[in-house]
Amino acid sequence: MGRLEGKVALITGAAMGQGEAMARLFVKEGATVLLSDLNDKGKETAEMISREVGGDVTFIKMDVSSSSDWENAARLIDKKYGRIDVLVNNAGIPGRKTIQELTEDEWQKIMDVDAKSVFLGMKSMLSLLKGSQHGSIVNNSSIWALVGSGSAASYHAAKGAVRMLTKTAAIEFAPFGIRVNCIHPGLVRSPMTEELLSDPKERAARVGPIGRPAEPIEIAHAVLFLASDDASYITGVDLPVDGGYTAR
Ligand SMILES: NC(=O)c1ccc[n+]([C@@H]2O[C@H](COP(=O)([O-])OP(=O)(O)OC[C@H]3O[C@@H](n4cnc5c(N)ncnc54)[C@H](O)[C@@H]3O)[C@@H](O)[C@H]2O)c1
Repeated sequence: MGRLEGKVALITGAAMGQGEAMARLFVKEGATVLLSDLNDKGKETAEMISREVGGDVTFIKMDVSSSSDWENAARLIDKKYGRIDVLVNNAGIPGRKTIQELTEDEWQKIMDVDAKSVFLGMKSMLSLLKGSQHGSIVNNSSIWALVGSGSAASYHAAKGAVRMLTKTAAIEFAPFGIRVNCIHPGLVRSPMTEELLSDPKERAARVGPIGRPAEPIEIAHAVLFLASDDASYITGVDLPVDGGYTAR
């Protein structure tokens, strides 16, 4: 029996990268997956996973920074399933500029997509998560929520916000039987990091003691653990999945 057998899971930003790996793994573990993304490629990804793994994968097009998109998704899920068991707030965009380089608009864009989205997701899915016996939210933060780098100012701020939002949501939602945790990936091989990984100096500076970037599936395994009932007594935690980067 799969570790997510019978569960309904929504994963944002799952057209590619880490979210795609999570969707594929969740389906293998028996979940019904709602694969969401702003990019229409999500439809192809959902069809590909259905074809290759089997199981139930449905694409939902949505912008995670839009409250009306979240409300539409909640209505659709309510109509089809009446509840949701797992929400993975994974979608995100990079922002590498320093405070000196950033404009106010650039700052706001990153805050909206990387931080406000997590607030909107948890808020709009709460009543559906209450319908689950074992609700679990996993937020994809970053090691940049734990340490500074001297650049990526808006990204650090947004991911730091996700970290603390996770902790306070864990306390707020515990009476409803909903756990809330976050992961902090280090450097992961994904479309987001393609350019960065092609620069040997950047790559060397960003990998942890394990000495290589993570593959998306290695992040997906950590998310699966937190999403599943194997983590039934775990809420409000930070789980770095960073090859030891933050151990130094
Ligand atoms: N790649 C890394 O090294 C790394 C490290 C730490 C944390 N993260 C975080 O992990 C998460 C996944 O990143 P990834 O590496 O898979 O990146 P990726 O760029 O490969 O995938 C991100 C996905 O999010 C989607 N997306 C972007 N903006 C969106 C929006 N407004 N609404 C809905 N979907 C949107 C994209 O279309 C894409 O499919 C992000 O939150 C990222 O910040 C990445």
